[in-house]
Amino acid sequence: MTVTAPPSARPASASATPAAPAPATPAAPALAEWVAEYAELLQPDEVVWVDGSRAQLDGILTRMVDEGRLIRLNAEHRPYSFLARSDLDDVARVESRTFVCSEHEADAGPTNNWREPTAMRAELRDLFRGAMRGRTLYVVPFSMGPVGGSLSRLGVELTDSAYVVASMSVMTRVGDAVRQLIDAGAPWVRAVHSVGAPLEPGDADVAWPSNPVKYICHFPETREIASFGSAYGGNAILAKKSFALRIASAMARDEGWLAEHMLLLRVTDPRGRRFHIAAAFPSACGKTNFAMLRSTLPGWTVETLGDDIAWLAPGPDGRLRAINPEAGFFGVAPGTGYDTNPTAIDTLWGNTIFTNVALRPDGDVWWEGLTATPPDGLTDWRGEAWSPDSGLPAAHPNARFTVAAGQCPSIAADWEDPAGVPIDAIIFGGRRATGVPLVVEARDWEHGVFLGATIASERTAAAEGAVGELRRDPFAMLPFCGYNMGDYFAHWLDIGTALRRTGGVPAVYQVNWFRKDADGSYLWPGFGENGRVLAWIVERIAGEAPAVDTPLGRVPSVSGIDHRAAGVTDAEWAELFRIDPAAHLAEADDTERFFGRFGDRLPAAMTRQLDALRARLEQQIDRKAVA
Ligand code: GTP
Ligand code: SPV
Ligand code: MN
Repeated sequence: MTVTAPPSARPASASATPAAPAPATPAAPALAEWVAEYAELLQPDEVVWVDGSRAQLDGILTRMVDEGRLIRLNAEHRPYSFLARSDLDDVARVESRTFVCSEHEADAGPTNNWREPTAMRAELRDLFRGAMRGRTLYVVPFSMGPVGGSLSRLGVELTDSAYVVASMSVMTRVGDAVRQLIDAGAPWVRAVHSVGAPLEPGDADVAWPSNPVKYICHFPETREIASFGSAYGGNAILAKKSFALRIASAMARDEGWLAEHMLLLRVTDPRGRRFHIAAAFPSACGKTNFAMLRSTLPGWTVETLGDDIAWLAPGPDGRLRAINPEAGFFGVAPGTGYDTNPTAIDTLWGNTIFTNVALRPDGDVWWEGLTATPPDGLTDWRGEAWSPDSGLPAAHPNARFTVAAGQCPSIAADWEDPAGVPIDAIIFGGRRATGVPLVVEARDWEHGVFLGATIASERTAAAEGAVGELRRDPFAMLPFCGYNMGDYFAHWLDIGTALRRTGGVPAVYQVNWFRKDADGSYLWPGFGENGRVLAWIVERIAGEAPAVDTPLGRVPSVSGIDHRAAGVTDAEWAELFRIDPAAHLAEADDTERFFGRFGDRLPAAMTRQLDALRARLEQQIDRKAVA
């Protein structure tokens, strides 16, 4: 890897300035020289520059079909769509193999795996040497955000995976227009990816090459990414989690903005008033579904702006403005059906790459939740004949669709406006079977930052590890923050201070769609009914909905949300908001231990908030004792 001098050290939480972010990316080498240097190291058979044309992409896809890497779906059912089956061991993000290689370990913080950058670069060099023998090196110039937009940022990914090229072409803006900006001197992020499976002459290839040894490495100071061994999702589509969150969060810290794991939507109320909401839920916890919400409330409409990542910056008007840096959706297939997310189903009519879903005998696809009963004669994600008696899912739980955002029927007409949208509210959520109410309003920004910092959520199939296990996932950014999370909390507080000066502080909420009753059934129907919670939030912002105070924050008064219309009984409604102070005090102890991991990097405001929460919970216990 090119060793570039890191930029001069800056204080971790440079104060937020309301100006448009000024690029602070260290000077990158000329693109062509960098590519030549890597071609020498990686030793591919050929180098192909991705130009962004339909013809070139079509050629790449056709070749993948011919080589058995993709299955072309029956065009009568699903035009111009494909199925990819991954290696059985390459099905999700590998957090244990994801590293933040900052100069100092303390700058990666206690929640990231850290490697010393010089040693890591040397190790990667050895892994990359000859790694692309027998393969094609694709050069993919890409833009996160509309090409040339003031909030947009550029990158180049080198990859030997045609699947990654096809995915990047959907998920980002790729090609010559970006290359021209880079050649004209615009800063750009360097990303190198290899599946780590070189071919010697005569070697037989597999449909999904990968390597049991995996590394996903980030160098935040020099804005570089290196990924080896996996071709799946966030491990390999380096524009997504690696750039748009891990590297971008470090850029955002230095430049006074926020790079977040958030969906972005616009909601219009029956009076035609428009509100913009950004919401952070951990992986596979409902962002895509919420972004495509069809509210069951008459007169309310939701438009989609983004489903996974948002970049937010204080704008010239003093408000927080947000763009979706991506151009497509890499969405969870299982659980997506007409009854849960009809908008997603309508989006997937064609031009879609599916990964690890099941194949129907008629050449279309299927996954759990698409229809109530599986069709006969399915081939499962492993490529084997499947029957419901097998007890195994036909689609992998982390099976995904890759589709252009522009194809979504609910996409906002102005979703590519480079100026973004002004944010009225920020929502944090998680998957919590117990304890956490359906919705809570933060008392102010500082309390909102505390709510974000203390999110815990049950693990999902989006990453390796035990599904269902509860873990801390602050701001839904645990696997995605490219620097010390204590500094990140401080940065969020600083952004609030800057926005307060201009009167542009958004309201903050916490939601939980996943609370269960004693039998393990969800208490809240979720999906389209989440529109009722969204409506309450909007009415709160407009100063029109009543709320009552609780130790956790403000919640709707009994009349605030028509739960009966959502099919929820009064008893279930009460259970959705029941607060057990003893349980929350125990969780506060756990929060104290969690916060303790950050040592002196934890902002004092977080400890202050924790103390205040405990005092409010104890007060409630005292009140109950008196009563
Ligand atoms: P990533 O793409 O991994 O970041 O996931 P995501 O946050 O976009 O989650 P997504 O919307 O794809 O939903 C993940 C899973 O949760 C799917 O199986 C959904 O069906 C399910 N889900 C989403 N919203 C709700 C809800 O309101 N209630 C319930 N019970 N399940 C939901
Ligand atoms: C997530 O895990 O949050 C995803 C999927 O959005 S991946 O692109 O693999 O990170
Ligand atoms: Mn995600």
